[in-house]
Amino acid sequence: MKEFKRHLVTAALPYANGPVHIGHLAGNFLPADIYVRYLRAKKEDVKFICGTDEHGVPITIRAMKEGVSPQEIVDRFYKIIDDSLRQMGISFDIFSRTSKQIHHETSQAFFTTLYEKGLFEERESEQFFDEEKQLFLADRYITGTCPKCGNPGAYGDQCEKCGSSLSPEELIEPKSALSNSVPVKKVTKHWYLPLQNYEPWLKQGLLEGHPEWKNNVYGQCKSWIDSGLHARAMTRDSNRGVKVPIEGAEGKVLYVWFDAPIGYISATKELTAQWSDYWCQEDTKLVHFLGKDNIVFHCIIFPAMLKAHGGFVLPDNVPANEFLNIEGEKVSTSRNWAVWVDEYVKDFPDMQDAMRYTLCANMPENKDNDFTWKDFQERNNSELVSILGNFVNRAFVLMHKLCGGKVPPFHMEHKDEKDDALFEKIVATKKSIEGSIENYRFREGLFSVIDLAREGNKYLQDKEPWKKGDDQISIDNCLHMCLQLCANLAIYMNPFLPFTATKLCRMMKVMDRMLEWENGASLKLLQKGYPLNPPALLFRKVEDEEIAVQKEKLSAGSKQLTVDSKQLAVDNGQLAGGEEQSSQISALKSQINFEDFDKIDLRVATIIAAEKVAKADKLLKLTLDMGFETRTVVSGIALHYAPEEIIGKQVSVVANLAPRKMKGIESNGMILMAENAEGKLIFISPAAGAMNGSSVK
Ligand code: MF3
Ligand code: ZN
Repeated sequence: MKEFKRHLVTAALPYANGPVHIGHLAGNFLPADIYVRYLRAKKEDVKFICGTDEHGVPITIRAMKEGVSPQEIVDRFYKIIDDSLRQMGISFDIFSRTSKQIHHETSQAFFTTLYEKGLFEERESEQFFDEEKQLFLADRYITGTCPKCGNPGAYGDQCEKCGSSLSPEELIEPKSALSNSVPVKKVTKHWYLPLQNYEPWLKQGLLEGHPEWKNNVYGQCKSWIDSGLHARAMTRDSNRGVKVPIEGAEGKVLYVWFDAPIGYISATKELTAQWSDYWCQEDTKLVHFLGKDNIVFHCIIFPAMLKAHGGFVLPDNVPANEFLNIEGEKVSTSRNWAVWVDEYVKDFPDMQDAMRYTLCANMPENKDNDFTWKDFQERNNSELVSILGNFVNRAFVLMHKLCGGKVPPFHMEHKDEKDDALFEKIVATKKSIEGSIENYRFREGLFSVIDLAREGNKYLQDKEPWKKGDDQISIDNCLHMCLQLCANLAIYMNPFLPFTATKLCRMMKVMDRMLEWENGASLKLLQKGYPLNPPALLFRKVEDEEIAVQKEKLSAGSKQLTVDSKQLAVDNGQLAGGEEQSSQISALKSQINFEDFDKIDLRVATIIAAEKVAKADKLLKLTLDMGFETRTVVSGIALHYAPEEIIGKQVSVVANLAPRKMKGIESNGMILMAENAEGKLIFISPAAGAMNGSSVK
């Protein structure tokens, strides 16, 4: 075993294109925070690094959609993410941003070093270019007709109708999804890192040196390496991002996956003048926390970059997690199927630990896992309230009632085997939590804490001090043990439930310093005769109504449009090549019968007038020629279309929808829309020649 002097812990940098959700917490921030809090309690030298990832396409898209500048987007979400994570107790030493000067300089210097060492391959290729937007187009941003199945909405990398994987050249009548104009081919030069050159080292040096890495991580890396590594472009044509710092690279920026992980280094530099101790000394233990979609970037590409550069430590472990689903369905930011952290802290003030507890208990450590509001309620009510809270409360209430509000003495000569067994359990629990956390098994660690509280309840139940009458010795011994157990529990729960641990310290009138790990497994934490505060409520019950509200919020919000996860996939390496694209399509709704379907009257209509609705950014008031009548429909497409560009457009309409008033205008029907890869709404229009008023069947 290597001896480490210091720890450098990172949590993957969230994109600043939206708030973070509890899946990010469970997979990335929470395990990292538990680990770091544990190390700090052990008085280890540790730095916990994070920040926002502020480059890349998802941000530009959100900005376009909202009609604001990308800067406005990243400023807004930096603040929301930073605030909400801090409120959840995620204890970063620094939460920086990749838009900072220091980051631009650091990543440019990194690139320059590789460039000067001659480690890049320069390659020219022809790529589609949107002359209207003056942008090179990622494959995903080119649409056209699929050569295989005729689907007119195929993407430059894939047809989602027939599933064939495509290249933009194959599309019939390719169009830019950004402007709808016809893209042209233009030669462009990029700098590639030949990953295949690092393959032997990645395999023998990194992977085989770490048989202890989690199966899910090890397996993914191995299959990547086994399927052969290729040169990968480390630059992109774009006007947003870190400028490529060499001559002849105007209009080019660093690939986001090149600059973002360097963000860990820049943030450490910003944090401390001693940054190079953490990054360049062999006795630093570097651990990256992240979700499974980030594994290859942290286990293959970034290590290859670090190796190429030289002088940096390499990760000792990358304990990536799988995904957390919500109520049995995949999180979808585009459908707003998510529990947002900023909303949780507003809806449940002072209940950070209840969420930390539930997420840790369901942490997707080895497989995808599920969060449900019901489970949140049950775990809170029957584990935190009924086991942990109840034990502490009983110990304090009884101590106030039977021992005058002071820590009773322990009469050694009356110690029995139950006392010994409890103490042994306290000692064993410390060891087992250490093993769990040090091996990234956070659920197991948390369950040890709750088990110990369960043991406390059993002990109290066995001893029944309330029945002991004037046998003060038995009463004293029992409650002395229980109070020492409370103090040990505070130490053990602290990495997981820091808010509760601190509350418990207030109740015991001890300093937070007591929470240092070395104090654990002791029966001398509270002195006899020491007066303690009356019990405060450690946890409160979650009521059925609160859960109903949250579930309602989830399904009501699930139709709102935010950002499509496909766009995230674009940055997960797609751009130049188009590999590892993982598209996400919403789950099918439950089956209906023909009668259900037949109730819907769909008709063809033509938009003959359109205008903005006052005081509603999203709404357009449309006048439709339905063939048999003219009617008004209010539609939420104003962020996607200007009124003048849609006049004359033929559309499909739900014609028998009950009328609804929006901003004082009665809307009589609904226009059918779909979403493209950028989250832009696209009309479901009949092919030429359909007649207004004809039924869509
Ligand atoms: N922003 C990326 C994501 O959310 C993660 C970046 S991690 C880093 O998937 F290493 F690149 F910083
Ligand atoms: Zn097709």
